[in-house]
Amino acid sequence: MRRDASVWVLGLAAVLLLTSCEKPKPALFDTSLPVLEVMVHQIDPGAWAFWGASGEVADAAGSKSLRPTTEEGWLAAENGAVQVAEGGNLMLLPGRVRDEEWIRLSKKLTQDGLAAKAAVEAKDSAKMYAVGAEMFQTCIACHTKYVPALQPGAEPVGAPLPDWPADVKLKQEQFLEGKK
Ligand code: HEC
Repeated sequence: MRRDASVWVLGLAAVLLLTSCEKPKPALFDTSLPVLEVMVHQIDPGAWAFWGASGEVADAAGSKSLRPTTEEGWLAAENGAVQVAEGGNLMLLPGRVRDEEWIRLSKKLTQDGLAAKAAVEAKDSAKMYAVGAEMFQTCIACHTKYVPALQPGAEPVGAPLPDWPADVKLKQEQFLEGKK
């Protein structure tokens, strides 16, 4: 019995010694930029570069397709899609990630961005429009839940979130209703 106990104590001492020798690991990521900065400078411009090449705009003169007409135009849309796809991953870095719903929506944003990239590569305008509407819903879902200024009864602070022009929004609603 005595011997067993001393072996155990020695073992414990060895474990403690090893643990105390472990140096703290340097952080792999520098997440000093707040989420707001990543939204405003990466995710938002990326989404708009993609949306700006999807669907059509209507004004008094009639409706005009936003489909790119140059290789630069297609590239800009694809760049935007990648910014959104990787933006979803950025929301999952330590210090930014919140709860299960946040994880779900961040992953969804990445899926939407990847689908957007694929649609641009295929130069499939209809698909780009459909994916764009889906992506928009992901932005709204996350903002409704996590941006305090957008919660019911909250006092608005700062600039409001950008919204689609009314005609585009109407078409999106019609599109989503048709899909259900
Ligand atoms: C995983 C959650 C999440 C997703 C998905 C998300 N956002 Fe955000 N977004 C936030 C949070 C949280 C804030 C507020 C950050 C703050 O104020 O600290 C924000 C703020 C913003 C703002 C700044 C609003 C202001 O205060 O003026 C913009 C612009 C924005 N998001 C655009 C987008 C776009 C576009 C998408 C979709 C392509 C998107 N976001 C998707 C969480 C998200």
